[in-house]
Amino acid sequence: LGLGGLARKAGLKYFGTAIDNVVLDNTQYTSIAFDRSEFNQVTASNGQKWVHIEPKRGVFNYTLGDEIVDPSKDAGQIRRCHTFLWHNQLPKWLTSGNWTKTTLLNVLENHIKHEADYYWGDCYAWDVVNEAFNDNGTYRSDIWLDTIGPEYIEHAFRFARKYTSPGTKLYYNDYGIERVNSKSLAVQALIKDFQKRKVPIDGVGLQSHFTVSRAPLYTDVRAAQQLFTSLGLETALTELDVRLDLPDDAHKTATQAKIYADSVRACVDEKKCVGVTVWDFWDPVSWVPETFAGEGNACLLDAKFNRKPAYYAVADVL
Ligand code: XIL
Repeated sequence: LGLGGLARKAGLKYFGTAIDNVVLDNTQYTSIAFDRSEFNQVTASNGQKWVHIEPKRGVFNYTLGDEIVDPSKDAGQIRRCHTFLWHNQLPKWLTSGNWTKTTLLNVLENHIKHEADYYWGDCYAWDVVNEAFNDNGTYRSDIWLDTIGPEYIEHAFRFARKYTSPGTKLYYNDYGIERVNSKSLAVQALIKDFQKRKVPIDGVGLQSHFTVSRAPLYTDVRAAQQLFTSLGLETALTELDVRLDLPDDAHKTATQAKIYADSVRACVDEKKCVGVTVWDFWDPVSWVPETFAGEGNACLLDAKFNRKPAYYAVADVL
């Protein structure tokens, strides 16, 4: 059995991977990515983001999303859809527009309406809002906060509930919330406020972008999830990867394997954690080298598609 098959036996709904459009011409890659025994869930790394979906105001283009969604449907995989609202990868017309609170809310509603409708029934979950908080727990200053105010978040969730298919899980997704800290406590406070006022939200995605030199412990990830599961929400590890300072060596690789295993175990042991998604499984297409200078080799498979110690450590936990 691959990781997806093992995950189901371990009581998870899925073990999945992010997939980027740029690698879809590599058949060795796609034969693994779209194998539901190995990964029974996929997330488009980029294909469903605003910049690609609505490149001009009111003009929708689902090509890059479909390049991931269609083969994953054929493969019998489930999808987490990512993401309706983020501060990054927004089209120029949006970031340079001269919006009022009302016009920007209209833009947001129209975007969610179209994309939710197009992917009707296709998504186990939607990351409705991505990365709305700073590490100190305050709201991130971006076009949404600065134009609409903090209530943009609840508007996004209400629009998502209105326009997605019934049963779609609506998630808040962020990084740095994998332990109890100012940021995860701010997310918890947001959820409590939502529940008091009946704003829909079903889950919290812990992105889980870790480094070999600094990663939360198993107990940290358990405690962080309990902030949310104690309120009745589900959780998922949505973007797990464990990067290291290049060059690689046996010690770093072993530490990486342990961090992967502890993270996956923190989901397996949490009743309301539905699954784990790695933010790609193949080192050469990971976002890490292009984002963090000098770091890399963050994935389960190396450049030659060999399984690394991290792969076997995860399989052992499942
Ligand atoms: C990353 C993609 O992997 C890159 O290809 C892209 O250039 C930038 O975005 N948190 C998220 C993801 O929620 O959407 C990001 O994905 C990684 C960090």
